[in-house]
Amino acid sequence: MIPRYISNFDTKGLPQRETDFLIIGSGIAGLYTALKAKAFGTVTVLTKKKLKDTNTERAQGGIAAAIHSADSPALHRADTLEAGAGICNVDAVEVLVNEGPERVRELIELGANFDRLDGKLAFTREAAHSRRRILHAGDSTGEEIQNALAKSLSEDDKVEFLEFHIVIDLLTRDNVCYGALVRNNFTGEIVVYYARAVVLAAGGAGQVFENTTNPDVATGDGISMAFRAGASVMDVEFVQFHPTALYLPGAPRFLISEAVRGEGAVLRNIRGERFMPNYHPGAELASRDIVARAIRSEMAETGSSHVYLDLSPMAGEKVKKRFPTITKTCAQYGIDIANEMIPVAPAAHYMMGGVHTNLNGETSVKGLYACGEVACQGVHGANRLASNSLLDGLVFGYRIIEYCKDNLAKQQPDNRHFRNQEQMTWQIQTDTVRQKIKDLMWNKVGIVRDGYHLQKAVAELNELDEIMSYEASSAEDIEVINLITLSNLITKAALMRTESRGGHFREDFTLKDDVHWKKHIGLRRNSGGELVAFELEVS
Ligand code: SIN
Repeated sequence: MIPRYISNFDTKGLPQRETDFLIIGSGIAGLYTALKAKAFGTVTVLTKKKLKDTNTERAQGGIAAAIHSADSPALHRADTLEAGAGICNVDAVEVLVNEGPERVRELIELGANFDRLDGKLAFTREAAHSRRRILHAGDSTGEEIQNALAKSLSEDDKVEFLEFHIVIDLLTRDNVCYGALVRNNFTGEIVVYYARAVVLAAGGAGQVFENTTNPDVATGDGISMAFRAGASVMDVEFVQFHPTALYLPGAPRFLISEAVRGEGAVLRNIRGERFMPNYHPGAELASRDIVARAIRSEMAETGSSHVYLDLSPMAGEKVKKRFPTITKTCAQYGIDIANEMIPVAPAAHYMMGGVHTNLNGETSVKGLYACGEVACQGVHGANRLASNSLLDGLVFGYRIIEYCKDNLAKQQPDNRHFRNQEQMTWQIQTDTVRQKIKDLMWNKVGIVRDGYHLQKAVAELNELDEIMSYEASSAEDIEVINLITLSNLITKAALMRTESRGGHFREDFTLKDDVHWKKHIGLRRNSGGELVAFELEVS
């Protein structure tokens, strides 16, 4: 049973604030949406930690857009559809590839400084792209974009930034979203934010899994709070595992960008043998799911916890110049990447599914919009093409504001009283529960799945069900409840999908089954708190 709200509250007794646009999340989708929204009203951006604690900040490889004279939206479209394994929403892909170049040019005008060669933009290549189309800023492209957006917003008094503010729940009545119940993590104060439009840009959910490239904040809050509020979610069984995260005991799973392979690096098992050509003609540049599974097989075959990324095909000094962040991070752990191989293993990286939206970012709850990784309009299908995620945040964030400027709720109703007195008071052992979820999701709902282990995961998650009826009285409680909620959704959808497609691989159903499964799995919470599954046609 999934509760509607995870805390007891009565808005009558709480401080109340008003804003036109309440934006939840401060990565590329949140900041860019804020930048566009400020022309049409007041904007409040909430973020759980510091403004820069986002997945965007960590994005290395780059941002894909058909800008090069030898490229075209049609070619970008074809690669995106191919990676998406048959279930991309073609209209969403059209929007992405056609509107993407203009959004990227806007970023450049805002000051994002992408690498250039002889004065012209430089393009790199990543897996499953048929050509070089990825703009980059060294290997810290996300940071460059995040800085450019934050700088453009910093002098604007129409945009209020609230760091260390976590949303407990969205406030809804009769399937309309009016705002959010928010906790200030410094003071513990609970505040009500009413808004004419609530935009979820809360990012990803890598922390559901034991190994992830995502920051601590990526606990799937956006999907979980939207789900509790009655919004439909879609495609959540499709999780992308990045093949190459740094593997060193005690070190975080720092991303080693796919662009490193794009520039010529190769993968070797612990015996020093190059193995990718045995798995796929695309070798190291096969799609991420194929490379991640190949690495997993090699690790099992050689009884090792990792493989190696060998950068020797690239000239030493070029490596350091092109990948300064990777060079520096590896050096902290005693690895000189120009001369030594990097130990790597796969890690959870990106959620293709999310809160279901149309092409204007509208969710199934009126007044609630979603963009970026938290959203799913089907643009990535079953597997996201590398470096399409930053672009997605821009393109669909822009469309939300274009839509809202003519369709914003004119005024809020007088009676906005919301309350909940259902939760039981209990002390949740957050650390223990969080670790339990991460272990079970990694081992039973990870890179390779099967019905037996998925059933076991469902049973283990059922044992944690009770926690969702406890009062969430800290940020840690809120995150743990969100992790349990999302784990349930991923596991149930993964169990339903009896085929293999893109990021979802079933050892007991190894083939893609277009006859039965060329469709999306949607999930929503009914008024009784039960999870309802439904099917959506691929459009
Ligand atoms: C990478 O640099 O390998 C990650 C880029 C992405 O996730 O699109």
